[in-house]
Amino acid sequence: MSVNPELLKKDFPIFENNPGLVYLDNAATTQKPASVIRAVSNYYSTVNSNVHRGVYRISEEATELYENSRRKVSEFIGSSDPAQIVFLRNTTEAINLLSYTLGRKLKKGDEILLTEMEHHSNLIPWFFLREAGIVIRYARMKEDFTLDYEDFMNKLNPRTAIASFTHVSNVLGTINNVRELSRMCSENGTTSIVDAAQSVPHMPVDVSRIGCDYLAFSGHKMLAPAGIGVLYGRKNLLEEMPPFLGGGEMIGEVTYDGSTWAKVPWKFEAGTQNVEGAIGLSAAIDYLRSIGMDSVRNHERSMLDHILKIMHTVDDIKQFGPLDLNKRGGIFSFNIGDVKPFDLLSQATTKFAISHSIHPHDLAAFLDGRNIAIRSGHHCAMPLMGRIGVASTARISPYIYNDESELDLFFESLSACRKAIAR
Ligand code: ALA
Repeated sequence: MSVNPELLKKDFPIFENNPGLVYLDNAATTQKPASVIRAVSNYYSTVNSNVHRGVYRISEEATELYENSRRKVSEFIGSSDPAQIVFLRNTTEAINLLSYTLGRKLKKGDEILLTEMEHHSNLIPWFFLREAGIVIRYARMKEDFTLDYEDFMNKLNPRTAIASFTHVSNVLGTINNVRELSRMCSENGTTSIVDAAQSVPHMPVDVSRIGCDYLAFSGHKMLAPAGIGVLYGRKNLLEEMPPFLGGGEMIGEVTYDGSTWAKVPWKFEAGTQNVEGAIGLSAAIDYLRSIGMDSVRNHERSMLDHILKIMHTVDDIKQFGPLDLNKRGGIFSFNIGDVKPFDLLSQATTKFAISHSIHPHDLAAFLDGRNIAIRSGHHCAMPLMGRIGVASTARISPYIYNDESELDLFFESLSACRKAIAR
C-alpha cells in the first residue's frame, strides 16, 4: 500500500487547527492522529484508575489495557515475550537505566564503545561512568557519513563490556547495520544496545532479526503521546539486572531490613506508570500498522529521493548525510554556505560569511514566517557537529503526512531566504 499524505493529514487535528502548516520537524516529535488523542481521552473518561493495584472493575480494565499495550509493542518489534518490554519515559531514560544498572558491574579500565554519530542521550549517561575509571571509545564515521565498520570491529577488544549505537542518526539520517554491529558484539562477548529512537517510527524493526541485547525508543516520535518510551531487553538479561528506580510496585516483599524485587518487566516500573501514554502508544501502533511499516519507509525514501534531486535549486546549499538511499532514513540536514563553528560569534569577520552563509536559526525563523516548521541547532549532537565541521545545521524530517508539494514549497522558500539575506 502506498502512503497518501493528503488523506492521512485529515486524521491529524493539528492540521485543521493550523491551516497551511508545513510540519517538517518529525525527528523532534510527530503530530498525533485523532485515534491516539481519542484513546487517551477515552481512558480518562471511562476507566481512569491506577494499574496493578485495585481489585475493582475499572482498575482491572485499566490494567488490561496497559498490559495489552505491552503485548502490542512486543509484537510490533518482533520480541518473543512481552516481559521483555519495559515502559519508561523515553529513549533517554532507557539509556540512563542501562548505564546505571549495567554500569554497576563494570570495573576500572573496562571500555564502552560508542560511535561518532550519537545523540547526547547515548553519550552523557555513559560519561557518568568515567568517574569509576570506565573508558569510552568511539567508532569513526567515514567521509560519506556512514559508519566505519572496520574501525568498530578494531575497537572491540576483550575489555569492551558494552557497545551502544544509534540505528538511524538524528542528524545525518545514516542507517547503521545494527544487525552486523550486534553480531560483532556478540562474537566479542560485548553487550549490544541499539538507540532506535529514529528507526522504530520509520521502518520495520525486528529485534529477533537484529539480535541485539537491548533496544530503546520513544513514543512521541511515532504518533504517540510524550512521556512514554520503551526499553526492550532479553529476558534473561533483564532478570539478572538490578532495578533502577525504587518504589511502589517494583518489589516482591519488603521488610525494615530489605526487599526482594518483582518479576520483569515490573521490577523496572517503580511508582505509578504513564498508563494513558501506554494506551496512546498502542493506538499509535494500530495506526502505523494500518499503513504498514514498509510503506512508511518507502514513502520517506521517496521524499528523500525528491529532496536530493531538487536541493541544488538552492545556491550554496551543503547537505550532511549519505547519498545512497539504502543507507539513509528520511532526515535531511543542511546549511547554506559554510556555517563554521565560530560564525555564531563572528558573523562579520569574513565577507564570505556576510554574503553567503545563513545561520540555521535565521533560516528557521524566515521559514516560520511562511508557516514551515523545521529544526535548527546542534540537534543534541554537539560532538558530531564538531566532527562534520559546523556549529549547527538546519534539518527537515518528513513523515507520512508530508508530500512532495510541501518539499517544493520548502525549497522555493529556502531560495527566497537565500536571496533576501545574501542580497
Ligand atoms: N532527538 C530529537 C531531535 O533530534 C529531539 O530533534
